[in-house]
Amino acid sequence: MSSLLDVKKDFPVLNNNPDLVYLDTAATALKPQVVIDKLDEYYQKYGVNVNRGVYTLSYKATTEYELTRTMTALFLNAKEKEIVFTKGASNALNMIALGFGMNYIEEGDEIVTSELEHHSNVLPWMNVAKKKKALLKYIPLDSTGRITVEAFKKTLTDNTKVVVITYVSNVMGYITPLEEIIKLAHEKNIVVIVDAAQAVAHMKIDVKALDCDFLAFSAHKMMGPTGFGILYGKYKYLKMTEPVEYGGDMIDVVEKYSSTPKDVPYKFETGTPPIAEAIAFQEAIKYLEKIGYENIQKHEQALLQYAMEKLEKIKGVTIYNRHTDTGIIAFNIDKAHPHDAATIFDEHHIALRAGHHCAQLIIKWLECVGTLRACIYIYNDYQDIDKFIEAVEEAAKYFEEW
Ligand code: ALA
Repeated sequence: MSSLLDVKKDFPVLNNNPDLVYLDTAATALKPQVVIDKLDEYYQKYGVNVNRGVYTLSYKATTEYELTRTMTALFLNAKEKEIVFTKGASNALNMIALGFGMNYIEEGDEIVTSELEHHSNVLPWMNVAKKKKALLKYIPLDSTGRITVEAFKKTLTDNTKVVVITYVSNVMGYITPLEEIIKLAHEKNIVVIVDAAQAVAHMKIDVKALDCDFLAFSAHKMMGPTGFGILYGKYKYLKMTEPVEYGGDMIDVVEKYSSTPKDVPYKFETGTPPIAEAIAFQEAIKYLEKIGYENIQKHEQALLQYAMEKLEKIKGVTIYNRHTDTGIIAFNIDKAHPHDAATIFDEHHIALRAGHHCAQLIIKWLECVGTLRACIYIYNDYQDIDKFIEAVEEAAKYFEEW
């Protein structure tokens, strides 16, 4: 049985670790050679600062750096001025909460979110709610742990000002029905902020079609470099958002007692940015688009079905998301703490994550101490799943007898 995509050879980490079964893409995706080469190209050929120099190499670096903005805008169907470079999704989501939320939210307002959120999307708003005496409200999840349009609708009131919501859960792998949610929110003039960190590697994001007001993700989850991410915002909302950091490069005019920031998006980009990472992100976009989201989804679904059918036959295993939408499987070996079970997987050279996955609210909702999480992606194949299933069988048997 061959897998649908044959891309393992593009990933040096897999070539350098031939026994590795990498099932931790939800934490970070592996990087293809083209991304690593582009990082190297910057350092080897024109490794100078951007936006400052008036010499040829600086011009080259700046042109490459801004090309990433153009490519990201095309990738998301946005305008260039709506693309802010950040250090990652957490940084972007905090920028929105602090720079926008702290001014926009007033006492008594309601902020709607969910128990499926990653800490990076809920904690910044918990802070806003506390400081502004606003109310944080959670959309009740259905019996399988999903956000439904019906439940969302019932959570909205005339006091709802902002919805802060994940596109894909990093624990359950569920896709949020965002199009309907955003439509309903906009009927009440509610601003919608989307955490797309877990979505961007698996599905096409068109911010115009979605009509979200802000959206954030990290490059590293879509095979790009670490330390770099994107904040998309509608121009009118970015205009209303205050910079969280002040300093070099984001300012137009500085007087002794006042200053004028640059326009959007540059007013958010302070100091020397992660230049190599920003430039190399171009290659991650190209690589993803060359493979195509349709092929990515077909590949993930084929392997997911194959894995689920085998997994549910193993005694002593609980699966928390049998009908997950993406390649994420949340499960436990019944008799073992997830961290103890993880050691068996490690002995089999299987990399997966164990614990609360920085999403303690959904772990509490599941009423467990944590889960094991296996995430299937384009560089996995049927052999990887067979090895994974073998390790699950061994772990279930070992802890059953323990
Ligand atoms: N947010 C990442 C995860 O889910 C790190 O593992």
